[in-house]
Amino acid sequence: MISINDFLSSPLKGVFDGFTDWHCHILPGVDDGFKTMEDSLAVLARYEEAGVKNVFLTPHIMVDIPNETDALRKSFDELQAAYSGGLNLFLASENMIDDLFLKRLESRDFLPLPDKRLLVETSYFNPPVELFETLRKIEKAGFRPVLAHPERYQYMSERKYVHLLDNEIEFQLNLASLTGYYGHEVQGRAHWLLSEEGYCYCGTDLHRQSQFEHLLASKIRRSSLKELKETVLEVSNILE
Ligand SMILES: [Fe+2]
Repeated sequence: MISINDFLSSPLKGVFDGFTDWHCHILPGVDDGFKTMEDSLAVLARYEEAGVKNVFLTPHIMVDIPNETDALRKSFDELQAAYSGGLNLFLASENMIDDLFLKRLESRDFLPLPDKRLLVETSYFNPPVELFETLRKIEKAGFRPVLAHPERYQYMSERKYVHLLDNEIEFQLNLASLTGYYGHEVQGRAHWLLSEEGYCYCGTDLHRQSQFEHLLASKIRRSSLKELKETVLEVSNILE
C-alpha cells in the first residue's frame, strides 16, 4: 500500500551514527576501489566525522582480481599500522562466484565476516551456473552465504528472492541502491526487498570517496528510512 511517507523523503546522513559498514573497497591498492593509503585514510576520517563505528574492508576476490588471502592480510596490517583513528576495522572479502571461487571452496581459503559468514556476489547480468547449488556447497563447507547487493542483479525475480530468503540466504543492501544511484530499477528492487524485511546487513560498497559524499548528501523515502532503521540497522549494527 502506498502511504504519504512514499512521497516524503529524509536525509540518509543520520544512518551513519553508530553504523557498521559491511561492504566496502577501502583497502588500498588491491582491487578496483581505493588506490592509495592517503585516499583510504582520508575517507576513514570522513567516516569518523559521520559517526560510523565499524568497517569491514571487503576487497574483491575473483578470476579477474585473484587476490590471495595472505596478501590481503598483509595490506590490511599496513592499513592498520598507518591508521590512528577510532574506527574498528575488520578484514573480510567479497567473493565472486566463479571458477576461482569453486577452487577456493575446496581449500576453504577465505576471509569471512563474523560467524563464518561469507560475502558472495554474482555477475549483475547473468546468474552463475547452479547458483542455488553453489550456495548449498558453501553451507556444506561450513560457511553461511551472504549475498551482496541482491537488488543489483538484473536476472533476479521476486520469486527467486523469496526462494533464497526461504532457504536462509542472508542479503546485504547497498545504501546507494535506495538513493537511485544505480538507476530506478535497482532502487525499486531495494524498496521492495526492504519492505519485505529481506535484508540483514547494510553496506556502502564504497570504491571512492565521492560515493560517500553522495550518500551524505542524499535523501531517501521516509518510509524506507523507517524500515531501514527498524529492520536492517537493528541487526546490521550489532558490533557494539
Ligand atoms: Fe563490492
